[in-house]
Amino acid sequence: MKFISASGDIGKIKTSTVVKFCFEKMFKDDPILVLLDKNLGGVITKAFSSGEFEGKLNQIIVFHNFSKFSAEKIIMVGLGDKKKFDDDCYRQAAGTVSRHTAVRKSKSLAFYFDLHDNDKTAQSVAEGFLLGCFEMTDYKTENNSKNNMTESLQFYCNDNQRIGHIKKGMERGQIIADGVILARRLAFHPGNVITPETFSNEAISIARKNRLKCRVLSEKQIKTEKMGALLAVAKGSELPPRFVILEYKSARGANRPIVLVGKGITFDSGGISLKPPTDMDEMKGDMTGGAIVLATMMTASRLKLPINLVGLIPLAENMPSGKALKPGDIIKSRKGKTIEIINTDAEGRLILADALDYANKFKPQAVIDIATLTGAALYVLGYAAAPIIGNNKILMDALRAASATSAEKVWEMPLWDEYRELIKSNIADIKNSGGRSAGTITASAFLECFIGEWPWAHIDIAYVDLEKNGRPYIPKGASGIGVRLLIELLSNWKRP
Ligand code: BES
Ligand code: MN
Ligand code: ZN
Repeated sequence: MKFISASGDIGKIKTSTVVKFCFEKMFKDDPILVLLDKNLGGVITKAFSSGEFEGKLNQIIVFHNFSKFSAEKIIMVGLGDKKKFDDDCYRQAAGTVSRHTAVRKSKSLAFYFDLHDNDKTAQSVAEGFLLGCFEMTDYKTENNSKNNMTESLQFYCNDNQRIGHIKKGMERGQIIADGVILARRLAFHPGNVITPETFSNEAISIARKNRLKCRVLSEKQIKTEKMGALLAVAKGSELPPRFVILEYKSARGANRPIVLVGKGITFDSGGISLKPPTDMDEMKGDMTGGAIVLATMMTASRLKLPINLVGLIPLAENMPSGKALKPGDIIKSRKGKTIEIINTDAEGRLILADALDYANKFKPQAVIDIATLTGAALYVLGYAAAPIIGNNKILMDALRAASATSAEKVWEMPLWDEYRELIKSNIADIKNSGGRSAGTITASAFLECFIGEWPWAHIDIAYVDLEKNGRPYIPKGASGIGVRLLIELLSNWKRP
């Protein structure tokens, strides 16, 4: 898809389809709409007075073939009530537009921006459009719908002065959408394609193209590192584990890095504590945290963020076999702490334990881990938001602020001693499951045992990683939620 930014009269845009945003019931307050209406012989007035179109969020109306226009079609899309409005309305409206058949049949498209629009608006529109029309077609051999996609997208604005801002936002939105799409694609790929080895190869190739340093530890090197918890999870599988270390150094500043840690279980069967068959296929997405870390590193580098970053991705497959980890086993983590295995399905926290301990090597400003960690997250916040837990108020506030602008919702859970009690073991230092109560929190209490003296935040993306029904800019399937949240956080980074 080609991206163009330009300025000029709405009637003269060389494109097949023009898109005009519109607030609810505010058509008469919008000079461009009034002018459009006049030129189109009053069709907009009619659409409003008949109630056919009110400008409700994501509502669409298509007008065809008007001789006074160079474009063949004009699409109006609603932004909803101006009082409840934020940038996510643009993201949604643009996503809705991207999935409309009138747009899918258009070779070229122009978004027309107004006086109140700025770089943030353009960014939201670029994100919404690109994320909305994303499709995973790699495994479809028929009806490859990529063939009739929009070829060129214009960001048009009537004001020559502001086109620079619009262009800047458009480009930022493109880069960010690319990152989200990388995360989605990795999560969509099945477990027979994305294995610890192929994931780490993908990391090497992404790093090479995006000025990131990348080192991959082999099974032998993981043994030398004494990552006993990662090795214990990988034992049951025919596939050896990997450990990916990514580094991004900005041209500016020699600051201590922020370390991002992502869970990379390429398939989670549960191991000997086997999961029930229903929805087990979804566990191909148990490496989504890792995918988000890789995508965030790529995006941070492309945006040239003025910070230093390290990305750690422990990779393994959790399988039952004669060699697999068993309930009751006691293992020794890289940190030296012993862990009693209660349930082999609580494998994510095990591989994260060794990665969080490895993070201490970098004397980080902060450590943030992201993982499809607990099924219990569904009972806490449902599909709407990701539970977060941490030990530093400034970092948690920054995450909340990033959540508000990215519209990727998070909500903080408490980490109290009552929960820490639940993972104490009779026989070892700790156990890997605290039982049924407060599963999301006890998993965090477990992770907490492995972090150093740094500000730390944990994001549990179980369930928000998969979109069940499809939303304006999140089609059904892997959502990529987490990338925009982290990029927003890192773009406004202040040392906690
Ligand atoms: N990967 C799962 C968590 C998960 C479940 C993510 C469903 C998305 C959807 C994780 O490894 C797991 O199995 N956790 C167990 C822990 C329990 C055994 C203590 C869980 O949440 O049931
Ligand atoms: Mn599991
Ligand atoms: Zn898992």
